[in-house]
Amino acid sequence: MLPAAASRRIGVLISGRGSNLQSIIDAIANGGLDAHIAVVISNRREAPGLVRAREAGLEAIHIDTREYSDRDSYEQAVVDRLQERQTGLVCLAGYMTVAGPRLLAAFPDRMLNIHPSLLPAFPGLNAQRRALDYGVRVTGATVHMVTAELDGGPIILQAAVPVLDDDTEERLSARILVEEHRIYPQAIQIVLQGEWFVDGRRFVRRAPTSPQRG
Ligand code: GRF
Repeated sequence: MLPAAASRRIGVLISGRGSNLQSIIDAIANGGLDAHIAVVISNRREAPGLVRAREAGLEAIHIDTREYSDRDSYEQAVVDRLQERQTGLVCLAGYMTVAGPRLLAAFPDRMLNIHPSLLPAFPGLNAQRRALDYGVRVTGATVHMVTAELDGGPIILQAAVPVLDDDTEERLSARILVEEHRIYPQAIQIVLQGEWFVDGRRFVRRAPTSPQRG
């Protein structure tokens, strides 16, 4: 379970637009998500999500990969920033870099990702276009725990999105994004509430225990 003192302080890692970050900011603002964004970190200086974060009054940091000799030292810098702020949960939100050993070791079962397909279908890049090209009738969005396997960790929530005959990649992506924005804050709330465990590949929520009698 998440450590109580740090549990509601989340760190969000981004690389671009930051619309999922925005959905988390909005869910916190409207009371749907009981959390505090401790820091937003981008590996790209020009990420529009950094602007969104600052406009929301959040600390937003760019950590430049080019200033580090290898992935481990870059990731250690990210981990240091997160830990300095007592981050209890890390949310990848369009973070276009595979989480490596340093991040995984620092936040085991404490790191989530959002992916624009119904995993395990279409992991990796361009998931919406590949779903369209493949001809699936249903695709969607998945929130999962981050493990060493690309887009392969235990699944917390999924939402299905039908693929329409006249879909384009842009239209399909836009409808998937609506579902991403709905389920990511929900999944974060579920994880922060505790009362779950990971059993092999499965993310299992504990049934509420009934009060003891007598
Ligand atoms: C989303 O489609 C997300 O599923 C994927 O990258 C995209 C990020 O979009 N991992 P945004 O930066 O949150 O707008």
